[in-house]
Formats: sequence, C-alpha cells, structure tokens
Amino acid sequence: MNQTQDPGNVSHPYPMTALIHGRFSGGFGWIAYPNEFMRRSSTALVHDGRVWVIDPVYTTGIDAEIEALGTIAGIILTLGHHDRDAIWFAERYDVPLYIPGNLIAAPKGGPAVRVAGQIPHSPLELLPCGGRGAMAWFQECAIWWPEHRLLITGDTLGTAGYFAAANAVGAHPFFRLSPPVGLLKLPVSRLYPGHGRSVIGDGVSEAVATAISTARSNLVAGWVQAFRSIQGR
Ligand SMILES: [Fe+2]
Repeated sequence: MNQTQDPGNVSHPYPMTALIHGRFSGGFGWIAYPNEFMRRSSTALVHDGRVWVIDPVYTTGIDAEIEALGTIAGIILTLGHHDRDAIWFAERYDVPLYIPGNLIAAPKGGPAVRVAGQIPHSPLELLPCGGRGAMAWFQECAIWWPEHRLLITGDTLGTAGYFAAANAVGAHPFFRLSPPVGLLKLPVSRLYPGHGRSVIGDGVSEAVATAISTARSNLVAGWVQAFRSIQGR
C-alpha cells in the first residue's frame, strides 16, 4: 500500500498549487491546498472519455488537468457538506450535480439531480453508508468502481493526520461510533478519501477493513490521534 503524487500532465502558465495523487488510466485525486489542515481531497474519474468529478475543490489549473481526461459528464457529492465548489463546476461545464438520495443538507435546485444505485451512464455504483441509530443524522454515500476496485469516501474513512497515523486509513473521529460497516468486505485496491491522499495497492482492503472493524474499539486512541494532530498544526 502506498501513496503517490505527480506534478500533473498539463503545461501550466503559472505554478499549480494542487497536489495530484493516485493518478492512473481511470483518473486522479487532488488536494487543492496541500498546506490546509483539513487536507480536503477531490477525485476525477474517466471512463470511455466521460469524466465525473467528485467533491471538487477548485484551485488554479485543476480545471485544465480535469479537462485533459475527457468530456466532463457530471459532478458527484459523497455527502451534503462536501458541496465545496461543486455548483461552480456543474454550472461551468453545464452538467448535472448528482446527489445520492440518502444525503441530507445537500444543494437543491439548479444543477442538482437526486440519484440512487448508480450514476447514470457510468460504471460508478453508489453505496449509502450513513450513520445508524443516534448517528442517523449523518448520511454519506461512498462511490464504488468495481472494474478498478476503486472506492471513494467522503468523511467516514480518511488518510489525513486526524483520521489516522501517516500512510494509514482511519475512521473519522466524529463518526467512530457508527463506522461504515457496509464497506467492510469490499476488495478495495484504490481508496480516494475526501480528506487525505489516496492509498493504492496491496493492503488497502485490509486497511479499510481494519479501520472499520476497530473504529469503536480504538475510539479513545483515535481521538488522541486527532487531538495530537490538531496540536501539531
Ligand atoms: Fe469532510
């Protein structure tokens, strides 16, 4: 399991600030502001020349990188408050903003289109994985691309320092009491979280399963990790 990054494929007239990571034939992830504590990450995926952009944060030059993949077909949210710059992207490319049906507090109207099961005309499956019981107010939807065993999460699983130690996958400190057990047995080989860089290769599915299965038992350790991460800013 490793994290990768590259400087981008497009020649830019000025330095691009985004950290591009996990690039492969099916797309890439990017962190628009690498020095930001939250380490917000976004993903662009391409299939048959059509591009889907997930939880996008704009930064100078990232639009050219995305356009180099193909024709933008849609923007997708994994959770309501990851709208980030999603409406801006949807309006700029005049494409739908796809919002999984279980999401709460998501944009309404304009380019917003509610979807369930699968993103239209794409290989991307929607896996609702929100909180249960007292945590039902938190709703998220993971995105699964079976061909590449590629999983995109919003907040439930991440690799930023306040989720987990470096290079590891962890459950969000706020949602450890209700981890995404529906993702437990997925054979993930590429994970693109909404916070932190992607992780790729052997060991990712095990890291995902461990993060989910130990989220509750490691609750205190997880909170200590998050606290130390905040202190170390
Ligand atoms: Fe988030």
